[in-house]
This record gives sequence, C-alpha cells and structure tokens, in this order.
Amino acid sequence: MNKLKVMTIFGTRPEAIKMAPLVKELEGREEIESICCVTAQHRQMLDTVLDIFRLKPQFDLDIMEQSQTLSTITSKCLLGLEGVFHEVRPDLVLVHGDTSTTFAGALAAFYQQIAVGHVEAGLRTWDKYSPFPEEMNRSMVGRLADLHFCPTKANRRNLEAEGISKGLFVTGNTVIDALQTTVVKNFTFAEDVLNSLDYEGKKVILVTCHRRENYGQPMEDIMSALAHIAKTHPEAELIYPVHLSPVVRECAQRHLDHMENVHLIAPLDVEEMHNLMARSYLVMTDSGGLQEEAPALGKPVLVLRKETERPEAVEAGTVKLAGVDYDRIVELADELLNHPAAYQEMAHAVNPYGDGKACRRIADGILYHFGRKSQPPEPFRS
Ligand code: UD1
Ligand code: UDP
Repeated sequence: MNKLKVMTIFGTRPEAIKMAPLVKELEGREEIESICCVTAQHRQMLDTVLDIFRLKPQFDLDIMEQSQTLSTITSKCLLGLEGVFHEVRPDLVLVHGDTSTTFAGALAAFYQQIAVGHVEAGLRTWDKYSPFPEEMNRSMVGRLADLHFCPTKANRRNLEAEGISKGLFVTGNTVIDALQTTVVKNFTFAEDVLNSLDYEGKKVILVTCHRRENYGQPMEDIMSALAHIAKTHPEAELIYPVHLSPVVRECAQRHLDHMENVHLIAPLDVEEMHNLMARSYLVMTDSGGLQEEAPALGKPVLVLRKETERPEAVEAGTVKLAGVDYDRIVELADELLNHPAAYQEMAHAVNPYGDGKACRRIADGILYHFGRKSQPPEPFRS
C-alpha cells in the first residue's frame, strides 16, 4: 500500500514548538511519508526552534519582512504554497493553531482540494477582534478543515456548537509533549544573567507580551504597570525576553530599559524558556503557549489580556485573567507578591491541556481517518 503523504505547514515560533514533536511522530510511522514545509513567517524565532528539534524542512518559503502586515503574510503564503502543492501533492495538510500561516495554509490546501487537518482546533473567545486576528483565523480554519485535533473536551464542544460533527478528536495539546523533553534538573543557561539569578532569595517574574490587539494603549498600560511593580518590589526580578516585533521592542525599551531589577533580554530558545519558567515564581504574559505550559509546571500566571480561549487553567485556579488595566494588573501582582497564602492557592501543578500523548493520538487519528487503522485513538480525558 502507498504511504500517506502528510505535509505539516507552519511558520511562527509557537507553531514550530507545538508541531516539532508531531513531525517526529509522523516520521516514525511506517504508513506515513512526512513532508515539512515552513513559511518562515518568523525567521530567527523559527530557526531557533528548528535547530533545537533538529528539523530540516523540505520547503522553506522564507516570507518574513520587517514590520510585515497581515495581508503580505497571507498573500505570500498563498502564492508560495500553490507552488509547493504543484511539486508535491499531499494526501493531507496539517496546520496548527491560529496564525496567518495557519489560515493561509488551510486556504491554499482547500484551493487545491487537499484535505486539511487542524491541530489545536476549537479554541474560541467568540469575540471577533480578541485575540486579533487569531479568533477569526482559527474559526475560518475550522470551516476549512476535515480533521480537528482538539486539545480538550471543551474545545470539541466549541466546534460542535458551530455545527461541526465529523473528524473530531480530543488529543491533548502537543505542547505538553514538547515540555516533557525540555525541562531538566541543573539546566545551564546560555544567557549569563539567568545563571546568576538568585531563584531562592528573589521572586523571579517571567514576563512576555506581544499580541497585536494589545498594540497601542493596552501595551502602554501593561508596560507602565510592570515598571511600577518592579519599582515597588525590590525583592522581585523581572525577566522579559522581548519578542522581535519592532512595535513591542520600542514599547518595552521605553518603559523598562533603565530599571535595575528588570532584565530585557533577547528571545530565549525553547529549552531555556521552559527551564526558566520551571524556576520562576510567577508568570505574567499575554502568550497562549505560556498559559498552557506554566500550569503544568505549577507556576501561577497572570494573563495580560481581556479574554482567554484557554479557560481550563482559570477554572483549575492556577491562571487569573488580569486584563490590560494598569490598576488591576498592579493589584493582582501585589497580592501574589505580598500574600503567601494567595500565592500558594495558585501554585499547584495541573495538566488540563495534555498528558504528553497528543502526537501519538493525532497520528493514530490520521491513520484511522484514512482507513489504515480500525479504531480511533482513545480521547485525552480532560
Ligand atoms: C505572530 C502571530 C501570533 C503569534 C505570534 C507568536 C499572526 C497574525 N500573528 O505574531 O498569532 O502569537 O506570531 O510569536 O500570525 N520578527 C523578526 N524575527 C522573527 C519574528 C518576528 O524580526 O523571527 C519581527 C518582524 O519585524 C515581523 C514582526 O516581528 O514583521 C511581527 O511578526 P508577525 O509574525 O507578523 O507577528 P507576531 O506579533 O510575531
Ligand atoms: N517561547 C520561547 N522563547 C521566548 C518566548 C516564548 O521559546 O522568548 C515559547 C514559549 O515557551 C511557548 C511559545 O514560545 O512555547 C509561545 O510563543 P508566543 O508567546 O510567541 O506565541 P503564542 O503562544 O502567544 O501564540
């Protein structure tokens, strides 16, 4: 029997981190020919992940531009992928999450009538502009996809509420698979400041912030709040690996560059990031991925956004939605820094997003869909 041609398409740092273990899983299946195509919507931040996981994509569209717009990303991906599909015609294209690469990847496959599988399917806020443009990207991919690999039961219910009833699998999130390979005891960081930090004596706060809907006033308020927290809590050390977006870098530097207990550093590679998170006291972030990783490591998270499509850890009590309001962010950080009981209440490890077997379930789900396996995978019990 011919091997199934499965093409994974991704372009940004988080997609790469979450697709890397899946590419490895597909490569290990004898029934599957795995083909990897990157758009390089992110260049440096993607390459770091490819290096760490030793991935060598067969296709690289190399589309990134400085200060790129949503239209340029989408149109360059669409045109580039048309060429790729003329060279190789996969049986299935896998896209991940909710970036512009994700949407363009699914649309380009649909234009060629190639089946689409959506990894990390069914996350919703039900607010068209928050997160922007991600909520619409993932909703539109939900309509285009034939297979939906939902991290949790709640994600599956979201798709069912939209009338999607076929090709649904609850698998867990592949990021938990990745996390199992990266966190180690006695990790040595490449970044000197991270080796010299007093993780026991100081309260290390890991910060990231990059979302487009926070550009402008929300990001100004977030950065001012972080500056206030650093100033009023000398026992805290804020470590902020700044995203390479020029908008984010300018804002972070203007508010935080001059402060003694704030360290603005370059983006970390994923091993460094996971090991830093494992040693931190608290995480303050607008990142989707960090909201999933930190709970698994028992680290409280304050989410710097108005809404989240990841309510599971909020319900489990380890994540709080701080919003983008200066006073509220300061109030919640003060509470966790000043009151050990409030901190302890949030600092317990929970795993609502996966059990480390998501990639196996996704590969099994694909084989089942194409009639190469008689049974679907056991769902992840979220
Ligand atoms: C993108 C995704 C967002 C995801 C985020 C992960 C879209 C619309 N947004 O947002 O969903 O959460 O990635 O980080 O798909 N840059 C570099 N080098 C890099 C990466 C970025 O210089 O390796 C700079 C470039 O100037 C680029 C800018 O950052 O133009 C913005 O990158 P872009 O992918 O457009 O948006 P993100 O905010 O990264
Ligand atoms: N990450 C990383 N280095 C950094 C910041 C983030 O490796 O300096 C990882 C993080 O651990 C997570 C992913 O990148 O796995 C999240 O990416 P990001 O926050 O850029 O995007 P989002 O998840 O919000 O889409």
